[in-house]
Parts: sequence; C-alpha cells; structure tokens
Amino acid sequence: MSTINRSIKINQHNVKNRIIMPPLVCFNWADDEGFETVNRGDHYGKRAKGGTGLIIVEATAIAKEGRIIDTMLGLWKDEHVPQFQKIAKNCHDEETVVIVQLVHAGMKSVGSPVYSSTAVEMEDKVCLEMSIADIEKVKEDFVSAAVRAKEAGIDGVEIHGAHGYLLSQFTSKEVNKRTDLYGGSLENRLRLPMEIVKEVRIATGDDFIICYRFGVNDPTLEEDKYFAKKLEELGVDLLNVSAGIGGNNIAVPEDFPFANITYMGTALHNEVDIPVACVFGIKEPHQAEYLLNNDMIDMVAVGRGLLADPEWVNKATKNVKVNICYHCLPRCKYSVDGNTCPWVCK
Ligand SMILES: Cc1cc2nc3c(=O)[nH]c(=O)nc-3n(C[C@H](O)[C@H](O)[C@H](O)COP(=O)(O)O)c2cc1C
Repeated sequence: MSTINRSIKINQHNVKNRIIMPPLVCFNWADDEGFETVNRGDHYGKRAKGGTGLIIVEATAIAKEGRIIDTMLGLWKDEHVPQFQKIAKNCHDEETVVIVQLVHAGMKSVGSPVYSSTAVEMEDKVCLEMSIADIEKVKEDFVSAAVRAKEAGIDGVEIHGAHGYLLSQFTSKEVNKRTDLYGGSLENRLRLPMEIVKEVRIATGDDFIICYRFGVNDPTLEEDKYFAKKLEELGVDLLNVSAGIGGNNIAVPEDFPFANITYMGTALHNEVDIPVACVFGIKEPHQAEYLLNNDMIDMVAVGRGLLADPEWVNKATKNVKVNICYHCLPRCKYSVDGNTCPWVCK
C-alpha cells in the first residue's frame, strides 16, 4: 500500500490518508460581512470526493476588525454557522475530516486603526498597541469562533500562528516590544497563543481537534522547537508547519530536495511526538511519498496542487497522472478568482 494511503489518528478522528488540504483562502469569495458568495460546500466537497484525508478550511476571521481582507469568510457571529454546516456535511459524506483555520490579522488587518502586540509606524494606517482588554477580547473571539465551528459540525480548528498575522506578532521578538506579561521573555511572548489553545480546549472538549499553524523561525528555530513541545504538552493535536517572521534565515541541508519551509516541518517533526505536517511546492504524489517513506514527516499538505486538481489524492492512489499546478506568478490565480486558474479554465 502506498504510504499516502496509511490512515492516521488525529485526536479521536481517523484520517484515512496522509494528505491535507492546507488553508487556501479564496479572496473575493465572500461579502463584507463574512458570508460566502461562492458555495464552499461545493468547493471543499469536491476535494473531499477527490479523496483528501483532512481538509483545513481557509483562513476565517474571528472578528470583523481582524480580517485579512474585507472579502473573506467569518465566524464572528452565529449567522455564520450554516455556511460551515454545509462544508462539514459534504466532507463527512466522503469520510474526510474537516477543520477550519481561525485568524486575526493584527497589524495586517483591513481598516484603521489596527492593533498588534506593539504600536508600529505604518505608512497607510495607524497600528496601536493592544491593551490587556484588547487581548482578552481576542482570546474570547478565538474561543467563540471555535465553539461556533463545533456547533456547525466541524471536527476542529487550526489556530493561525504563522505568516506574520497577530499571533506571530506576539511570538516574534522582532515585532513584540511589550514590557508586560505578554512581551520580553520567550515565555511571555508565547503566552497569548498558549492561553488561546488552553481556553479553546476547555470550551470545545477533549475530542475537538486543535491544530496550530506554526510559523517557524518566528523568531528562531531553537525557540520554535521549545514552543512546539509546549503546544504538545498543552494537548495540541497537529502542527501544520509553515513560515513565520524571518523564516528565510534557516539553513537547509544542501541535499534536502524541497523548499526551506518544507524543511522546517521536518525539523519540528523530530522534536515532538504529535503528528506534524509540512508544506510547500508538493505538486506530484511521488514527492509526498518520498517525505512519508523516509519518515521525514507524518502528513503532507498539498495546497495549490489540490486547487489545480480536486482529484489529486484519488489519482495518486490509482497511479493516474495528476494535474500539475503551474505555480502562477506573481500570485496563484485561485486566490483572486478560482475561475481564472489555468486548470479550471481547461
Ligand atoms: C491562494 C492561496 C491562498 C492561501 N490562503 C492561506 C490561508 O488562508 N491560510 C494559510 O495559513 N495559508 C494560506 N496559504 C498558504 C497555503 O496554505 C500553503 O502553505 C502554500 O500554498 C504552500 O503550499 P503549496 O505549495 O502546496 O501550495 C495560501 C496560499 C495560496 C496559494
């Protein structure tokens, strides 16, 4: 049996194979209030039908003021729940486990003023330091959004701690210049994400998956290893490793055949016993097999590959050629309008 097809247990959930659809936001597929304008039940249902083991639904805002863009999904009010019910149903019909990524963009949020760990001078907007009351609200918003995801029948959440969004802005010493309990020492900089994980666990129960999107080298790989172990101790079920702030400084062994972001995942895999997923540039099944066969990782996330080919996993299993993503530049066409993806146009 191909290593891709080996099942794996995440929390209490049996994931039927090792391929994850990582969060892939489709900007312009929602209105200004966080409601879909393009059917996500269909979008994710196709990838579930295509055999994907675990789907992580795209970045979803926990608060209106924490949105990355004003056309993204939201889970900040109860009215948002039904759009996630459809996603849950369509994934579960295909025995695919599904979780949703929760995000607050911090200084990268739309609008002005915006809030971060620290006040930052920005050209186009005002970024203020979060007060303790603001931090408490962020925690509550993460918890409420997670509870809504559970109400919708979604199997868990991924807390977005990567890509320079709010939680990265707390963990990174390059950004976080606070002098209170949430800044300074490593313990203090990790405090906010750790409190969020703890509170989400209490509010959602033991069998709800908590995944952490880990931004490695945020600020250093050594500190990240420590953080990964802390998250494991707290009961995080899966680490989905991507880039943080300053991730380009990582030294990758010369013979490592993938990107530095992928390497970071394999580096953390050696540090913890919980499942770890890596990502970046995996276009073809043999690449995923290489990582899994060599025990370099537990799960492989295939992002743009699954946009180009919803049947990626079924084809991999049957040894059929998959559609190979073109990695369009300057950015993936799916992110603006799925219909202009060269594979969708065909
Ligand atoms: C169109 C698009 C949207 C993305 N949206 C998100 C997102 O919502 N949350 C996130 O953490 N990463 C996001 N990413 C990053 C992907 O999850 C993934 O890490 C990246 O595409 C690299 O994997 P790949 O080479 O397999 O595509 C996005 C990437 C693309 C191309």
